[in-house]
Amino acid sequence: MKTANDIRATFLDYFAKNGHQVVDSSPLVPRNDPTLMFTNAGMVQFKNVFTGAETRPYSRAATSQKCVRAGGKHNDLDNVGYTARHHTFFEMLGNFSFGDYFKDQAIELAWNLITKEFGLPADKLTVTVHTSDEEAAGLWRRIAGLPDERIIRIPTDDNFWRMGDTGPCGPCSEIFYDHGPAVAGGPPGSADADGDRFIEIWNLVFMQFEQRGPDDLVPLPKPSIDTGMGLERLAAVLQGRHDNYDIDLMRSLILASADATSSAPDGPHAVSHRVIADHLRSCSFLIADGVLPSNEGRGYVLRRIMRRAMRHAHMIGARDPLMHRLVPALITQMGDAYPELTRARALIVETLKLEETRFKQTLERGLRLLEEEEARLDAGRALPGDVAFKLYDTYGFPLDLTQDVLRGRGRGVDEAGFKAAMDEQRRKAREAWAGSGEAATERLWFELRDELGATEFFGYDTEVAEGKVTALVRGDARVEQAGIGDQVFVIVNQTPFYAESGGQVGDTGVIFSPGGAEVVVTDTLKKLGAVWAHAGTVTKGTLKVGDVVELRVDGERRGAIRANHSATHLLHKALQDRLGEHVTQKGSLVAPDRLRFDISQPTPLAPADVEEIEKVVNARILANSEVVTRLMSPDEARAMGAMALFGEKYGDEVRVVSMGGPHGDLQRDYSIELCGGTHVRRTGDIGLFKVVSEGAVAAGVRRIEALTGKGAFAWLEQRDHLLTEAASALKVAPAEVPARVAALVEERRKLERELAELRRQVAMGGGGPQSGGGAREVNGVKFLARVAEGLPAKDLKPMADDLKKQVESGVVAVIAVNDGKASVVVGVTDDLTGRFSAVDLVRTAAEALGGKGGGGRPDMAQAGGPDGARANDAVAALEAVLAG
Ligand code: SER
Repeated sequence: MKTANDIRATFLDYFAKNGHQVVDSSPLVPRNDPTLMFTNAGMVQFKNVFTGAETRPYSRAATSQKCVRAGGKHNDLDNVGYTARHHTFFEMLGNFSFGDYFKDQAIELAWNLITKEFGLPADKLTVTVHTSDEEAAGLWRRIAGLPDERIIRIPTDDNFWRMGDTGPCGPCSEIFYDHGPAVAGGPPGSADADGDRFIEIWNLVFMQFEQRGPDDLVPLPKPSIDTGMGLERLAAVLQGRHDNYDIDLMRSLILASADATSSAPDGPHAVSHRVIADHLRSCSFLIADGVLPSNEGRGYVLRRIMRRAMRHAHMIGARDPLMHRLVPALITQMGDAYPELTRARALIVETLKLEETRFKQTLERGLRLLEEEEARLDAGRALPGDVAFKLYDTYGFPLDLTQDVLRGRGRGVDEAGFKAAMDEQRRKAREAWAGSGEAATERLWFELRDELGATEFFGYDTEVAEGKVTALVRGDARVEQAGIGDQVFVIVNQTPFYAESGGQVGDTGVIFSPGGAEVVVTDTLKKLGAVWAHAGTVTKGTLKVGDVVELRVDGERRGAIRANHSATHLLHKALQDRLGEHVTQKGSLVAPDRLRFDISQPTPLAPADVEEIEKVVNARILANSEVVTRLMSPDEARAMGAMALFGEKYGDEVRVVSMGGPHGDLQRDYSIELCGGTHVRRTGDIGLFKVVSEGAVAAGVRRIEALTGKGAFAWLEQRDHLLTEAASALKVAPAEVPARVAALVEERRKLERELAELRRQVAMGGGGPQSGGGAREVNGVKFLARVAEGLPAKDLKPMADDLKKQVESGVVAVIAVNDGKASVVVGVTDDLTGRFSAVDLVRTAAEALGGKGGGGRPDMAQAGGPDGARANDAVAALEAVLAG
């Protein structure tokens, strides 16, 4: 038997042999189409290649594409579990030609694959073509040899495939497998076509047009091919099954569910096992592609699917959370074909476990309430909307979960009543806000938040994506369009731009509209924690609300920010390890050119601390371990030892980023932090880490600034230049610079000492200690004054003492002039202190020097003055005092 994995491989090998590039499945959340909730066909990732807006290095491709149909236009959720062919998640096998081959070769390739490689008997196959497409009918006759009665012309849109209201489209031809007369149903186009006998397995679309608007159909640059074949359906046919849930892949998941709950796979809980098998796939793949459960948008669709599965697990009687225990079975089946599943294993397991643990707390009580309410209702009467709303609001029951519970009992829900209750709650919230007296701009953001919902952020795994402009804000008013020179906030439904938060700066980049508008984004802000506001200036064209735009983050800048953010986490941990548990984060800035980290720490970091921290962080960088993101409850995160900001309010679920530990060992990771920022994939991407400053910012708070990657390298390079320059100026090798500088400093100190001594000697009269030369008799008192340049002030008193000894009886003065300023010391020998006070005299001198005051004892006093040039005036002033 060919397993589903064999069939997928055969399909891709076959097209590879026929000159096709095998391309990976694109993510479930389309980056290139903001109007699509989830990728729902193989052609989604090639949409712009068909229209010619994008070129690829190949013109033929083949894929096995992950698809989800839930929540959006194609919503299969309600039927899943109850029917043979509904899935929320399925794989679409497809081959594509971008202006390469067209109808004839597409038909030939398809026919040969299913009849020769897969060996399906030709007489079991029937095809349809669009009534207008005689060419295709002729090709089926010629290439496949099909008789005319098995080439059915369909006049309706069933055979004209459209992506949506806009996008590439064209007539199509479908291949049906006939399960034989034992199954009820008729051929396509017949009255009982809806029966299960003829099953469509492959759709070949002859892409010829692009729908640009309601009445705007233009030809594609080149006719192209897009085919899609559901792997599950094909596998059912090839494995001789009639039900997609009986193929090996689905069966193994059903058995895993049965096994984990000790219940029979085909017993009374058969539907629940099928629901769980299907939902396990959609939930796990969505989580792997970055969707996390939330109360809005895609996250809410995921939550609805998860909770639907969890209700079925509850019905089977699973006491403990079940879904996460089935992930290994899924990875065994699909992990080889989709390695992203294996990579995201921890995130998937923890997200499922968290959601189920939490939902279990209200599920039972909600079901009890539902039963009580039902008991009051007449048979067949719909459940009142306010009850459904209470179940939603208080017990976390999505509307479709309540509907699913009631489905088996033949009861519906008053949906209009549910919506009215929901609107009423919103209205109250608005009123409460309006009453808070906030500024008009804040009210505007509140209205936008209410009306548009939260912006979806794609930036954890992409820097380019398409979004739809949902609002434009200029000043504090909404506008419908913005032209050249206008400064605006652009709001879109989804974006790869990171909005400033948690210390990480907002992204910059460009927004382009297909109509030629261009907005240069200089910052991105998050309003009310939910609405992304791209702040920018229109530099080209006119941007309008409703435009589908391409948002392009400045990737180089973001790369540098990522490196700095991850390095901040490593630094935080290294600081704690080195300095102690008291170290907590007091603030941080993660910018492209540097990182800044403030910590509670009373004393400066010693150079050895800084060195050790750099060494440790760089060792973690070099180990190049994976950076892992998980989602968990704040309590669980703390139990894991995650570092969180004290006093910070966290939501029900937090992102936990860990890095630097042994490969794959999540329990022993090095740094574990609560964080919503963007990070490198592996620590090696940080490149290099260098602390460039450490200092105080407030009492008990130290600030560390550091660089990473290219910035750190440039900084070190600059240092190296300085060293080289210094070495060349000193005429020594760089390694000898420190010794040479030390020697020079020592030499200089020695010379300074010698110079001071010489100056002192000069000041003292050039002769020996007894020379006493230059003393004058003023009014019978010996007066000796010295004025000298460059004498240290501390030398003045000893010099005055010396001079006093020289004159034996008299008044002495020493004035030193340094940098234009004067210091003066006056000494009076003991026998004269009755007549003259050194303190009075020095004040006189100080005054002459432009200063004031002075102090000391009657025999020795000191002062200073700013006007060193008037040193001689000071001497004259002293002499005048002595002269009386
Ligand atoms: N786009 C077509 C489909 O989804 C064929 O791949 O059916």
